[in-house]
Amino acid sequence: MKCVNDFRLRFGKQELVPIIIGGMGVDISTAELALEAARLGGIGHISDAMIQTVTDRRFKTHFVKEKLKLYKYNVANPDKSDVLFDLGRLAEATQMHVGRAMEAKRGDGLIFINCMEKLTMNAPRQTLRVRLSAALDAGIDGITLSAGLHLGSFALIEDHPRFRDAKLGIIVSSLRALQVFLRKNAKLNRLPDYVVVEGPLAGGHLGFSMDWAKYDLRTIMAEIQQYLQAEKLDIPLIPAGGIFTGSDAVSFLENGAAAVQVATRFTVTHESGLPEKVMQEYFKASEDDIEVNTISPTGYPMRMLKNSPAIGSGIRPNCEAFGYLLDGSGNCAYVTAYNREVAAHPAAKKISVKDKTCLCTHMRNFDCWTCGHYTYRLKDTTSRLADGSYQVLSAEHVFRDYQFSTDQKIALPLP
Ligand SMILES: Cc1cc2nc3c(=O)[nH]c(=O)nc-3n(C[C@H](O)[C@H](O)[C@H](O)COP(=O)(O)O)c2cc1C
Repeated sequence: MKCVNDFRLRFGKQELVPIIIGGMGVDISTAELALEAARLGGIGHISDAMIQTVTDRRFKTHFVKEKLKLYKYNVANPDKSDVLFDLGRLAEATQMHVGRAMEAKRGDGLIFINCMEKLTMNAPRQTLRVRLSAALDAGIDGITLSAGLHLGSFALIEDHPRFRDAKLGIIVSSLRALQVFLRKNAKLNRLPDYVVVEGPLAGGHLGFSMDWAKYDLRTIMAEIQQYLQAEKLDIPLIPAGGIFTGSDAVSFLENGAAAVQVATRFTVTHESGLPEKVMQEYFKASEDDIEVNTISPTGYPMRMLKNSPAIGSGIRPNCEAFGYLLDGSGNCAYVTAYNREVAAHPAAKKISVKDKTCLCTHMRNFDCWTCGHYTYRLKDTTSRLADGSYQVLSAEHVFRDYQFSTDQKIALPLP
């Protein structure tokens, strides 16, 4: 019986363990987690979501405080169009976050960065160009573009000296999205080095509508494989979403996947950025405790635990400090929803906003408990401690379990 370790992900002459830990925004996929994946011969992602906040937390810098100081005059103003990112400071934070991770890298694996295009930051093209270029400058091994159609994104960095040497990949959830991307990028003469095919059971934002349950990862993979074969395009495909055991991964690898991307099982490891209290919520969750809802201002459905503090919260938008979801005209769906509720309840001290959430603030504070569909199985991957809590795992344990397990088995950790 085969295990994941019988396969290799090949990039040119380089061979890797075909396990990729997916990006998990606002520092759930920490540098520590990505470094473990790289040390063990696979690929780990850091995320560039809210990178200034993350850098402040990691390196005691003051990017957020300085931005807030600059725009403090605007805090009570419902119009956020003035609030812009300083591109130089954005590059600095990115270079620090990426550069330090790359300096610490050991082993034969790689570290990639996950860039969510839906973080439009009140100047979508300019800020994305800086984020991508600064990550390349700082030596990132690869960039995975997520949450968006990525249509003009490769072109933003085509003049960068590392444009053809760094690995560049995209996440798609349908054949159609891939076809549109390939058509729009044909003139760049540069195919993606890999395509992550993310199905409807993934965590974070979904590339589906609320009818996500009608879709299935294996079917989408098969459609894309057939298309690439017919077009004679050789692009490694990496399925993601609901691959919970080593055996699940093997069944994809046997069917032509180049590697698998996984995330949920790593949310409950010491290296994950989630606070331990939140990890216990993930462990405890039952299937009924998880929902896909539309409260993310990005417009994409998002999967999360129903008891996330972010749901129904009516906090004041924090765009002067954060502002990652402001579109190019200073709008965010949460700001609109918040202003509507304030106008409807002028005397209220505290309001609740039900249809949208302030994703920046709540993701930053680990109060939006986004998770994969199989989060309810995490309790089966560990042991219960005497006090009733669940034992947090090590990333190495989970990685090796994916790498070597067979027969749908999941190895429990040593006590
Ligand atoms: C907690 C969590 C946060 C995530 N955040 C992001 C993100 O910021 N960007 C992204 O592209 N994917 C994100 N994802 C998706 C993962 O990178 C990955 O593709 C997917 O969850 C894999 O499926 P699995 O969790 O069932 O293993 C997130 C997943 C989880 C569980």
